[in-house]
Amino acid sequence: MGFSKISFSLLAAAASTVVAVDPCISTTSWNDSRLDLFPLASDGSIAHKFWTWLDWEPVDKFEPFPSQARSCPSVSTWGEGRLDVVYINSSRVNSSGGNVLHKYFSGGSWGPSWENAEDLGGNVDYLSSASWGANRLDIVAKAKNGSYVHKAWTGDGWFPGKAEWEHLGCGFFSSPAIVSWGIGRLDIVGLDSGNASLQHKYYQDGCYDGWSGWEDLGGGPFIGNPVATSWGEGRLDFWAINSAGELNHIYWDGHKYSEWENLGGEFTDTPKVVHWKPSRIDIVGKGLDDDQYYGKSYDGSEWHPSGNEWHKLAGPFNSEPALVAKHDTTNSTTDFLYVFGVDEDDAVQMKIWSGSYWQPESEKTWLMGHLSSAHQANLFQDDEGQSVLEMSGL
Ligand SMILES: *[C@@H]1O[C@H](CO)[C@@H](O)[C@H](O)[C@H]1NC(C)=O
Ligand SMILES: *[C@@H]1O[C@H](CO)[C@@H](O)[C@H](O)[C@H]1NC(C)=O
Ligand SMILES: *[C@@H]1O[C@H](CO)[C@@H](O)[C@H](O)[C@H]1NC(C)=O
Ligand SMILES: *[C@@H]1O[C@H](CO)[C@@H](O)[C@H](O)[C@H]1NC(C)=O
Ligand SMILES: *[C@@H]1O[C@H](CO)[C@@H](O)[C@H](O)[C@H]1NC(C)=O
Ligand SMILES: *[C@@H]1O[C@H](CO)[C@@H](O)[C@H](O)[C@H]1NC(C)=O
Repeated sequence: MGFSKISFSLLAAAASTVVAVDPCISTTSWNDSRLDLFPLASDGSIAHKFWTWLDWEPVDKFEPFPSQARSCPSVSTWGEGRLDVVYINSSRVNSSGGNVLHKYFSGGSWGPSWENAEDLGGNVDYLSSASWGANRLDIVAKAKNGSYVHKAWTGDGWFPGKAEWEHLGCGFFSSPAIVSWGIGRLDIVGLDSGNASLQHKYYQDGCYDGWSGWEDLGGGPFIGNPVATSWGEGRLDFWAINSAGELNHIYWDGHKYSEWENLGGEFTDTPKVVHWKPSRIDIVGKGLDDDQYYGKSYDGSEWHPSGNEWHKLAGPFNSEPALVAKHDTTNSTTDFLYVFGVDEDDAVQMKIWSGSYWQPESEKTWLMGHLSSAHQANLFQDDEGQSVLEMSGL
């Protein structure tokens, strides 16, 4: 799609322009028969599609989620019929970061409205969110200066305030990863900008009130953005890649930490990890050399295919993978692993592990729809040679 210099300046004056962002997919599932996908296209627009167990809606495309984000949105659920989407407003005016915006699905409709979002302040560049139970939402974000800040919806209001954030510590270069193993518990990890080792902090309600200090888990130097998971109360798994792109893993078993283990591979960022039950681990990451997705699993006693080998799944992809683990509602012994990715044409592709084999077979995927079906945009270079997307129809 060619724009001349003249049409560029005319269009730039007439329409809003945003810097191209890395595409990604944020997912959540409020029960075994529902799955929501929120992909971020490279023009910063968010789209939406959901699985109802009968079909995907909208069927072969995406609906536009009326929002522009400057980095990956984060979506979570605290129960059936509830979604919380948080993202950073992609205002080009304010290059120091952006405010955190919040939209929620509750009682069958979107709040504060389909078009509008709640402004939570912040001036941050990355965020992560989680819910430990009904009426609770935690958001941890990275300020441009390397500080991590936190805010929570506590059921009757925002803590410490709608526009205020609690300061958790400084000197981080990665986005924060957060996870909750149950009510009243939140764990955060991030990479230290001094020595690139993994730092951990937790919040625990109950026996005492509040936050632990930062604990150094070493293991570095790491690059990219760490991942935190839990398969149940008392268990934590932390994941990060070293400068060779190899996946490293450490876990807390309820009493002590394991040693760091190196699981091999060569990834662009830390692979995504899910647990469909205790002791089960499924991992998918994007290969550094070929942009293919590679997977590995742990069955409670062994890694498959092995401790340092990976299965090739499909590709090439432009985004990091998104994973969802599910049980078959008609057969509780069957577990499903859904893998989603944005390909090089800005189309979302899906692959499913259906208990004993991958569908579709070999290295194929199912097309879920093009993100341009939600928004139309054209990529071109701006005056500073930066990739810019022109939104049509604005
Ligand atoms: C999942 O949630 C939906 C919406 O609340 C409900 O209609 C459906 O029955 C639930 N499915 C299961 C398997 O619980
Ligand atoms: C997002 O930022 C733009 C530009 O600063 C602003 O006009 C818009 O109101 C913001 N959106 C929300 C929902 O606050
Ligand atoms: C950028 O946004 C932050 C947070 O809203 C605000 O404090 C700051 O003044 C803004 N900077 C500019 C240059 O508008
Ligand atoms: C960095 O920014 C955060 C959020 O705006 C602020 O709370 C914190 O004090 C700042 N840290 C430093 C070291 O300036
Ligand atoms: C990394 O730096 C932090 C301080 O920022 C320090 O607490 C920690 O001990 C260092 N870790 C290693 C492994 O050097
Ligand atoms: C449930 O799934 C298992 C494993 O895939 C399969 O062996 C079994 O036949 C299924 N049962 C039913 C009732 O479909």
